[in-house]
Amino acid sequence: MSTTSITRLGGRIGAELGGIRLADDLPAGTVAEIRGALLAHKVVFFRGQDHLDEAGHEAFARLLGAPVAHPTVPSADGRYALGIDSHHGARANQWHTDVTFVPAYPAFSVLRAVTIPPYGGNTLWANTATAYAHLPEPLRVLADSLRAVHTNEYDYAALKPDALPEALAQYREVFTSTKFLTEHPVVRVHPETGERTLLLGNFVQRIKGLTGQDSRALIDLFQSHVERPENTVRWQWRAGDVAIWDNRATQHYGVDDSDDHERTLRRVTVDGDVPVGPDGVPSRLISPEAVPEPAFGIPSGASTVSV
Ligand SMILES: [Fe+2]
Repeated sequence: MSTTSITRLGGRIGAELGGIRLADDLPAGTVAEIRGALLAHKVVFFRGQDHLDEAGHEAFARLLGAPVAHPTVPSADGRYALGIDSHHGARANQWHTDVTFVPAYPAFSVLRAVTIPPYGGNTLWANTATAYAHLPEPLRVLADSLRAVHTNEYDYAALKPDALPEALAQYREVFTSTKFLTEHPVVRVHPETGERTLLLGNFVQRIKGLTGQDSRALIDLFQSHVERPENTVRWQWRAGDVAIWDNRATQHYGVDDSDDHERTLRRVTVDGDVPVGPDGVPSRLISPEAVPEPAFGIPSGASTVSV
């Protein structure tokens, strides 16, 4: 009999799982329970996973799929652990889905808290499936028909005007060392649950076929439904916590309110597949011609498998 406890944190998103010590030797039944909870609740949290180091973190993540490297940012350990570090100048205080500027962006992200500030630094997640499901019918029909261009090249200075210019410039240079443009459907059909999800977030540049002004108005309209508090959950980190989210059905936001206190997390992402819209048309990489090879391993978004 399972000793796992599942405590829901909100009506539409989020659950804390208890009674599990994350490791690469978990029984298949426990892995299935975690995956099931992830698909149902979109983000799941585990307290007290202090035993995990970078190798253990990656090994556990492999139970959910093949780890992938960030397409442009070098890892913290020479393998798959991406550093989420308050000192590199660019913070994730914009709603986004990880790495949507490539077609097959990650299916899951596994985030482990190493150093947590004495206050602030929470993360919020939003359920993009319930955001779609609660749209009024005319807006669902409209969203179903749209496609959007995502890019990793956007104006960091506009997002974070008070960041140190030098650190920010350096991070931007690395982050955009290859400039990606990808066309996605605005509504993605989830490959495992069949749910329709809104695929937007801050890597969206414009809606295909519309002017800049009309694009912005529609992006803001649909994004405002994603961000409604009913669709969100907020997590107050402790060192040793692990959060895993279904990156195909969520957006997230790292709250930048812990002043200059150190905040360090590690993220391992697991390979995803190429999204398809309600009409079955897949996402496509506009440029460059292919996702370049990272220094180690396979890059996120390199998969060409369409489900
Ligand atoms: Fe992120």
